[in-house]
Amino acid sequence: MGALSIGLPRSVLAMALLVLQCFALPLHGTITFTIGASKAENSADTAVVCAEQVMALYSGTARASQVTEARAQELRSYIRPLVPYTELRSSFLSSNLVPSKKRFDSRRSLQQRSPQDRLLEPNSKWVSGDVSPPVSHSIIKKLIQWPPSKVLELTKRIVEFGGAPEVLFSALDPTKYEVPDVEGANAQKCQLTKFEYGQRFTDSELNSYMSFLFHVIVTLAPSVGFNVTLSRFDLFHGHIFTSYDTNRLGILFHAREYPAYNNSTFPLNLGYCQKGSPMPYDSSMDLRNILWLAPLAACSAKGMCSDDWLASGTLLILDAREGGIVHRELVPDYLDDVRTISEDEFGNIVADVNYLNIANTPFTSRIFIC
Ligand SMILES: *[C@@H]1O[C@H](CO)[C@@H](O)[C@H](O)[C@H]1NC(C)=O
Ligand SMILES: *[C@@H]1O[C@H](CO)[C@@H](O)[C@H](O)[C@H]1NC(C)=O
Ligand SMILES: *[C@@H]1O[C@H](CO)[C@@H](O)[C@H](O)[C@H]1NC(C)=O
Repeated sequence: MGALSIGLPRSVLAMALLVLQCFALPLHGTITFTIGASKAENSADTAVVCAEQVMALYSGTARASQVTEARAQELRSYIRPLVPYTELRSSFLSSNLVPSKKRFDSRRSLQQRSPQDRLLEPNSKWVSGDVSPPVSHSIIKKLIQWPPSKVLELTKRIVEFGGAPEVLFSALDPTKYEVPDVEGANAQKCQLTKFEYGQRFTDSELNSYMSFLFHVIVTLAPSVGFNVTLSRFDLFHGHIFTSYDTNRLGILFHAREYPAYNNSTFPLNLGYCQKGSPMPYDSSMDLRNILWLAPLAACSAKGMCSDDWLASGTLLILDAREGGIVHRELVPDYLDDVRTISEDEFGNIVADVNYLNIANTPFTSRIFIC
């Protein structure tokens, strides 16, 4: 991996790796693979358009109104919100619902406890396995819709710089942490992450927030009938992107990454990392694509931003069950069995964020950005 990266821009490398990763998947008989056919190009376009419409529904009234009502309804019936989105009408723009920078700062100085404190509390409870008293869902909701100021600053800066991945890279500490052996991965020759080393944000609030997102998914997914575990076979990574349409920061999480090989239900060899998987392949694969969107800053096309926000953050499960629009338009034929939606339908790829669930390790040290 190290040799590959010399002299290549990271974005190019990320694309190359994505392609490698996708096409390295062993394909079994039912998969159609029509190289060079126009159908493939058309379906790729369909996916990008569909992804953009999904995003539009959560990007303020102006963008949402560009999606027809029938289409919006169809999309919504295959989207399961874990944390709902709040639609901001112009009358709200001057209310306290919107944490413009000024209001955010004053609110912060008025309160004894900073947003980060409120964030760390649920995190540490979850990591230590303490489920009583239960984590307040209203805190979770608030932190997804209006994340702490450091997350808001980062997402706004990314929009100001036209979605440039370098904005996120410059928020990373240069230290490279070796990816540890997690749940017997080394013994299986499994390399779980894109690189052997990962980085973290310089600001601990950003690392906490990443960790928080993983835990929120595990906590809230059962409410839509989906049990997720933080394991190297199930949920351990998400793909950070900046959206094509608005340069908004988002993460497409993939749960259920390595279902167990099974001669009858899942005769698909996914390589070393699949070996030893205790996770059966079943219909819950339909729910493995989970989308987090940061709040959308109110910016002009040229990246001039005001202190206001057009849309709150949100956390959604894309339901890829057969017969639905998500399955039909966002899941490519060759990934049908694993129900994978690719992050490059949504935006430009920035990096992967991994949460490696290593016992007796502070939760922010479980984050590896590759
Ligand atoms: C999820 O886990 C809970 C608790 O173990 C269990 O009661 C429930 O049936 C599970 N749900 C699904 C859909 O597997
Ligand atoms: C394969 O899956 C079926 C159906 O879930 C199950 O009954 C069987 O035990 C599995 N086989 C193995 C080898 O795990
Ligand atoms: C799957 O089936 C093949 C042929 O029927 C058999 O040789 C193999 O041992 C089976 N593998 C497992 C894991 O059951």
